Formats: sequence, C-alpha cells, structure tokens
Amino acid sequence: MKTYQVAVVPGDGTGPEVVREGLKVLNAVAAKEGFKFETQHYDFGGDRYLKTGETLPDSAVEELKKFKVIYLGAIGHPDVKPGILEQGILLKMRFALEQYINLRPVKLFPGVETPLANKKPEDVDFVVIRENSGSIYTGLGGVENKGTDRECAIQIMKYTRPQVDRCLKFSFELAMKRKRKKLTLCHKTNVLVHCGDLWMRAFEEMGKAKYPEVERDYNHVDATTMWMVKNPEFYDVIVTENLFGDIITDLGAQIQGGMGIAAGGNINPEGVSMFEPIGGSAPKYTNQNVINPLAAILSGAMLLDQLGEKNAAARIERAVIDALQTKKIKSLSAGKMGMGTTEVGDLIAKAASA
Ligand code: IPM
Ligand code: MN
Repeated sequence: MKTYQVAVVPGDGTGPEVVREGLKVLNAVAAKEGFKFETQHYDFGGDRYLKTGETLPDSAVEELKKFKVIYLGAIGHPDVKPGILEQGILLKMRFALEQYINLRPVKLFPGVETPLANKKPEDVDFVVIRENSGSIYTGLGGVENKGTDRECAIQIMKYTRPQVDRCLKFSFELAMKRKRKKLTLCHKTNVLVHCGDLWMRAFEEMGKAKYPEVERDYNHVDATTMWMVKNPEFYDVIVTENLFGDIITDLGAQIQGGMGIAAGGNINPEGVSMFEPIGGSAPKYTNQNVINPLAAILSGAMLLDQLGEKNAAARIERAVIDALQTKKIKSLSAGKMGMGTTEVGDLIAKAASA
C-alpha cells in the first residue's frame, strides 16, 4: 500500500490535542482512499527546552530532511521567554528547510460567522502567499550602546532577486489554477523604495513575460488591510513579503471566522513542507478538551494536497463545510463548539471517510 512518512511535532499547549484529532482525520481518509501514513513523533517545544535547553538541534534538521511533510501543532510556552522557541524551532525549521512559501487560505465557510457585516462565503475566498524566507525575519542588524541613552537598534529588510522570483513564480502558478486568475502584489513601495521596487519590477516582468493571462494588481499594505475588511471580494491571490504577510494573515484569519479555522502551510515545493494551524498554543485551554481542532484538521488537508492526494484533501474540506453548515459544530470558539475537541475529530473523521 502506498505509504507516506510524516514527521509529527505536536509542540506546546493545545498543540498535541489538535494534532491528535488531525491525525485521526488523516488516517481515516487515507484508509478510505487506499493509502496510509507512518508517523514519527518529535518532542520539540517548550517542555523539552525547559528540561534540556535544546530547541531544534541541527541533527534534527538533518533528520527532518528525510520527510516530505511535517505536521506541526503549536510552538509557544508561558514559562519560556518570548522569542526563544519561535526563533529556535519554528523559524529555524522554516529557514533551514527553505520553506519559502507560507500559504494561508482565507476562506469563509458557509455557516461560519464573520465580523464583516453583510459579507458571505463568496465574498471571502482568497489565498495569501506570504514569502517565508526573507525580509526582516532573517535577524540581520544589531544593537549599539545597548542600555544607554544612545542606544541604536537596527533591523534590516533583505531580499534577493531569486528569492522574490521563486515566490512570484509560485504565486502566478497558483493564480493560473484558480478561476479568477488575479494576483495582487501587496507591499509598501511608496516608503520601502529599495525592497518595494525590487518586488514591483520582478512582479511586472514575470507577469508580462510568462503569465499574461493573470490579471495583475498592486496594493500598499495599509490599503490591503482596509480592503480586506471593506471589500474582501477584490482578492483572489495576494502575494506579499514576510512581515506584511504575517500581519495581514492574522486579519485574514479573523475575517474567515478566527484562529479556530485558520490553516497554513510552509512549503518548499522541491523539499520538505510543514503544515500548521496558524493560531498559537493557547496554553490556558490545555488538556480541557475544549480547543477547536478544525484549523489543524484543515492544515492536514493542505498536507494531503501537497502530497498530491487531492481527493482525500477534498473529503476533509467537504466534511468540515458540512459540519459547519448544518451547525453540528455550533461555534468556532474554544469551549463553545457544542462538543469537545475529540468529538469534533470523530465527527470529521467519520464524515470525511464516509
Ligand atoms: C506566524 C507566527 C510566527 C511568525 C511567530 C510565532 C514567529 O506569528 O506563524 O504567523 O511571525 O511567523
Ligand atoms: Mn503571525
């Protein structure tokens, strides 16, 4: 039987609970579609760090390179200083494995409440491609005279043309596969004159030369946040640099119903990709069986998509839509779903493999 190896990193807080339900669903659809998963669990996260001082050792990165896909719960621990686990595990994984695409669909499913008045599922259905390897995330810069009244901190935004081009190529290709074929570049070219100009020229050149069927549009990032709230139907595919992508995808998550349903993939089209719900570890809900696993379950569907198991992925999405539309799941908020975390997993696993 066709077998996929998956590295599983449940992580911190509610991460293990949502990953457990995600794997339940993945195994159920695999059985139905005639393939299977073999999982290898890794305990990277806050607890391991507090015990051993280790975040993600280089040897682990080498080991992870044996997989095509990684399934991640959440990283973030209340007893660990902010930054250590994020830098040491999550960002290290994205960078070391060159997961240069962060794919974050923003899709309002029927039956889900959005904070946007009068907006319907057909109005909120776009994908954000967040460049995931460059920008201000690379740690370039430093600090001088720290702690003095002359302190000076520098944090540098850096992009190379190949980095921009590979991200744009992925974005145009994705736009080509969608009905509307519209790609919006989001940046801040009026202020970030160096990086913005690089993105803009690369965008125009590639679009004109290779993807004339794709409608090109440009929005400044501040305007993007405005339009996402006011007229989300403008968007089909948005491509943006790393930091702007981080920010606008939290807004995107909210307009699609919240962190309970926001899924994401860190993709290296030629290598190892990692799938994760984009919300955090929500430590206060740990082990209460109240956290919403749908974002993790939908990240599992993205994982299947990456493996080429389109039917299995579609099964999951259909099952989630049905559970929401029929109000079997009453709300996306932790503790208000009308059932527990494990019951949501059971429900989707059953419906997706029917
Ligand atoms: C995300 C998160 C991370 C990021 C943090 C935890 C480093 O906010 O995945 O969006 O900024 O990329
Ligand atoms: Mn973020």
